[in-house]
Amino acid sequence: MLKVGLVGCGVIGTEIAKAVDKKIPGLELAAICDKNKAKEDVLIHSLEKMPILATIDGVIERADLVIEAASADVAGELAKKAINKKKDIMIMSIGGMIDHFDLFDEARKRGCRIYFPSGAIAGLDAIKAASEAHIDSVTLETYKSPSGLEGAPYLEEKKIDLRKIKRKTTIFEGSSREAVKAFPKNINVAAVLSFAGIGIDKTRVRIIVDPSLKRNIHHIVVKGNFGKLETRVENVPSPFNPRTSYLAALSAIATLRKITDAVQIGT
Ligand SMILES: NC(=O)c1ccc[n+]([C@@H]2O[C@H](COP(=O)([O-])OP(=O)(O)OC[C@H]3O[C@@H](n4cnc5c(N)ncnc54)[C@H](O)[C@@H]3O)[C@@H](O)[C@H]2O)c1
Repeated sequence: MLKVGLVGCGVIGTEIAKAVDKKIPGLELAAICDKNKAKEDVLIHSLEKMPILATIDGVIERADLVIEAASADVAGELAKKAINKKKDIMIMSIGGMIDHFDLFDEARKRGCRIYFPSGAIAGLDAIKAASEAHIDSVTLETYKSPSGLEGAPYLEEKKIDLRKIKRKTTIFEGSSREAVKAFPKNINVAAVLSFAGIGIDKTRVRIIVDPSLKRNIHHIVVKGNFGKLETRVENVPSPFNPRTSYLAALSAIATLRKITDAVQIGT
């Protein structure tokens, strides 16, 4: 049994915990933690096999695989602590890792793994394959309703009032690095796309607000000497957190299944 420790019992953490509890053979949820005690309580009482409630250090101690589903502020520090203890880690707040690339080599040196699920986008399998040759360009266009972007520091900085946007409007264009800094809770997909392809400075990101949207749309275009790839996903947002797409949680669950399965499908 691979012991799993969870940091963050929100929308994604809850879906992951329920899947580990009931659906995925070979995994056991050993410990959980959230800075919000009410979230811990609700989750723990919804599970069949009760994990231990612990501090972040306690979760790392008890787990073979630590899962971060909390916040970009905590991702880097948590990954560092886990890797120092030679534990594997899965990161959901992927944008939080762009100042911690040194940990990639540290994990390789210590023989542990960092997992970055694809999240709410499609095509990383082909992009990884294409990077074995040469990729010229990667562009991500993300379309969200105003509620999917609320609270982002970029809006404050640029004095953008989402309530005043009445039709489709591009509010951001820049590199993936700039996008992740500007929208730390909203554009994790830009970070994972960059890691798979041509990096955070060459990957281009456009964010478009569309008040008529009920779904978060991610449209990716990649060009290289393999040809051209285009993917478009229309994501159902979580009713509890409109910034988070349901597919992001499912992608984490599928990654966990892949870790434990003898049969590996896709790149
Ligand atoms: N990789 C992806 O594709 C993707 C998609 C959506 C969201 N995310 C990211 O995943 C993370 C979780 O998303 P969510 O929708 O579950 O968010 P959420 O707000 O529903 O849940 C986050 C939980 O983490 C807890 N938390 C925050 N900081 C903490 C800390 N320092 N220690 C312990 N607990 C802490 C919060 O109290 C909350 O319960 C977010 O950072 C989000 O940006 C990633």
